[in-house]
Amino acid sequence: MNNNPIGLFDSGVGGTSIWKEIHQLLPYENTIYLADSLNAPYGYKSREEIISLSVKNTELLLKKGCKVIVVACNTATTNTISVLRERFRVPFIGIEPAIKPAALQSKSKSIGILATKGTLNSELFSLATEEFTKDIMITEVIGEGLVPLIEKGDLLSSEISSLLEKFLKPMLANNIDHLVLGCSHYPYLIPQLTKLLPNNIKIIDSGEAVARQTKSIILKNKLQKKANNQPDLQFITNSSDTTLKLLLKEYLEKIYIETRKF
Ligand code: DGL
Repeated sequence: MNNNPIGLFDSGVGGTSIWKEIHQLLPYENTIYLADSLNAPYGYKSREEIISLSVKNTELLLKKGCKVIVVACNTATTNTISVLRERFRVPFIGIEPAIKPAALQSKSKSIGILATKGTLNSELFSLATEEFTKDIMITEVIGEGLVPLIEKGDLLSSEISSLLEKFLKPMLANNIDHLVLGCSHYPYLIPQLTKLLPNNIKIIDSGEAVARQTKSIILKNKLQKKANNQPDLQFITNSSDTTLKLLLKEYLEKIYIETRKF
């Protein structure tokens, strides 16, 4: 089992931001990443639909022998992780918006969160927010339209920039000092966000924390790969592979991308 891969899935290409953190921390581990781009975005689907897509992705990763599964999508985690944990025996690692560190570090007692509709409306998100943000003002904004543009590989366009400007406006009006990125696609917008935000606002995403959690689950379950040899790094997409290739350009020599239906 130890040489079996870590499985990851996302509604599309965004979870590669999480894959990069995991690969950096666990460079010898074999990985399989599923990009369900054909069904992106998940953020506007019903909870039932997100559950059924997440179950389908998990079943495929289990068929490939994955030893742990990283749900590299906030929308899928916040809507389905309890169902997945109940239904399958493999350890799951999820990703949720990093509300807690932002709330703890905020001096202005005001934080912003940019996420999908599916994440912001989920019960798990409301519970986590309630628990950590009693004395904090939260400005929640749905990043409507961002995921489809990122899926197209459109990271630097004026369209993205004007959407971001619109989304940041209410947050800036509320004097936020932390912006939480609650979607695994959004770290790819950090260069654009940095241009639009004043220097005192810190951008927080959950990638590094998810990687640390993945490592600790692997160690706890004694599942670490035995040999420090070249890992097998597989990506499967059910849509065009152009954006995956763009986002993973510095890894192209050591990864394998397959396009097929699932
Ligand atoms: N990467 C997904 C997330 O973290 C995007 C959701 C979507 O497809 O709408 O929420």
